[in-house]
Amino acid sequence: MNNQTDLIEIAKQTLIKNDLGGYTVPTHGLYPFQWNWDSAITALGWMKFDEARAWQELELLFSGQWDNGMIPHVLFHKESDTYFPGPDVWGSDKKVKSTSISQPPVLASVMKIMFDSCQDRALVDQKMAEFMPKLVEYHLWWYRERDPEQTGLVVSYHPWESGMDNSPAWDDALAAVPPVTWQYTRCDTTHINASERPHKEEYDRFLYLVEFFKNHNFDSNYIYQHCPYKVNDIGIIAILHKATKDLIELCKLANYAHPELQTLVDNVKLTESSINTLWYAEEQYFYSRNALTDTLCKVKTNAGLLTLYAGLVSPSQAAVLKPLAKSWATASTYSMASTHPKSDKYEPQRYWRGPIWLHINWMIAEGFADYDDIELADMLKNDAKHLIEKTGYYEYFHADSGAGCGGGAFSWTAAIALYWLLDNPAVTK
Ligand code: GLC
Repeated sequence: MNNQTDLIEIAKQTLIKNDLGGYTVPTHGLYPFQWNWDSAITALGWMKFDEARAWQELELLFSGQWDNGMIPHVLFHKESDTYFPGPDVWGSDKKVKSTSISQPPVLASVMKIMFDSCQDRALVDQKMAEFMPKLVEYHLWWYRERDPEQTGLVVSYHPWESGMDNSPAWDDALAAVPPVTWQYTRCDTTHINASERPHKEEYDRFLYLVEFFKNHNFDSNYIYQHCPYKVNDIGIIAILHKATKDLIELCKLANYAHPELQTLVDNVKLTESSINTLWYAEEQYFYSRNALTDTLCKVKTNAGLLTLYAGLVSPSQAAVLKPLAKSWATASTYSMASTHPKSDKYEPQRYWRGPIWLHINWMIAEGFADYDDIELADMLKNDAKHLIEKTGYYEYFHADSGAGCGGGAFSWTAAIALYWLLDNPAVTK
């Protein structure tokens, strides 16, 4: 058991050790590059002790932005032989080598927090001038390329884009993707016990999609028409929605006028008017949808609760989600399992099929606080604190035993601890 001061120091050291010269790897070995939403979350941790370094994290992330506005899910700044699939498999042809999909766009929400809290205002002004045009382009990319028919609900082309790689919500949609037939060697299972990672059947299909994008020259129109995996991911939709609202606010605060700002305002309204097509009345829950078959992905995963964080939930829906979340949170020893523990898909140690992820808990807790359920928000926060005290900064946590799973010395866990968990006096439970 570590005390608060030790935990703060260990968290800082974790970020410092994972710093590869301006960007932070999630953890050495398993993830040796810059990941999109990891970096955004990690910047929140850097903000607590090195503001300039926090902004630099974003600078490196923006350095990999594509001409069409997309910010990729991984930037391969330097070579590494500890990860597969690398830039050759992705067929990267950009100056900064990268993957060809994005990740949950929490970046603008993080930038808003950084804008609000940064002590060095001269630095903020400089960074806003530099980053705001790029940030707006990123959001315009999401709505233009991933919702070309203006449905209000963007689509995702790969489970890796969701950031929740092997969530049971993707099982059916992914099963329809052909597997690759060539041989390959995974690196992840040389670092981590296979019982905590996705199965080969999933990897075969993850790789098919990677090749599909490359074989079609990353052509957005073609991919939109023909991609064998197309999902309205409730997690991405919620995070994008919240981030776009934060971005619009940030434009006002930073006095930044972009000619297409109104497009963002219009898309926010559009999502608000269409979100209920993902609400399954019979089970009173928000689900992702397989856009190819027009069927909801009916597995209760924590992504559905991000709608609260996004402010997309009506009062009557919130009244149903609160007791559900409470029974969910108490169905495992620690809150809140990424898949509902009563689901037959629940696996408490396997990656996104049950374990607890602290950065998601932070967002969900914010959502409950916004909807005036402080008790639930506190429960998530207290449990998160217990997990890091008990185990340290692991990638994710076993929802019943509390054991650390996946990679150790993990950046976003350390960062979210610095930002969310360690500011306040010790919690007693
Ligand atoms: C895994 C996670 C993803 C994360 C990445 C790096 O792929 O599923 O969300 O961004 O690792 O930590």
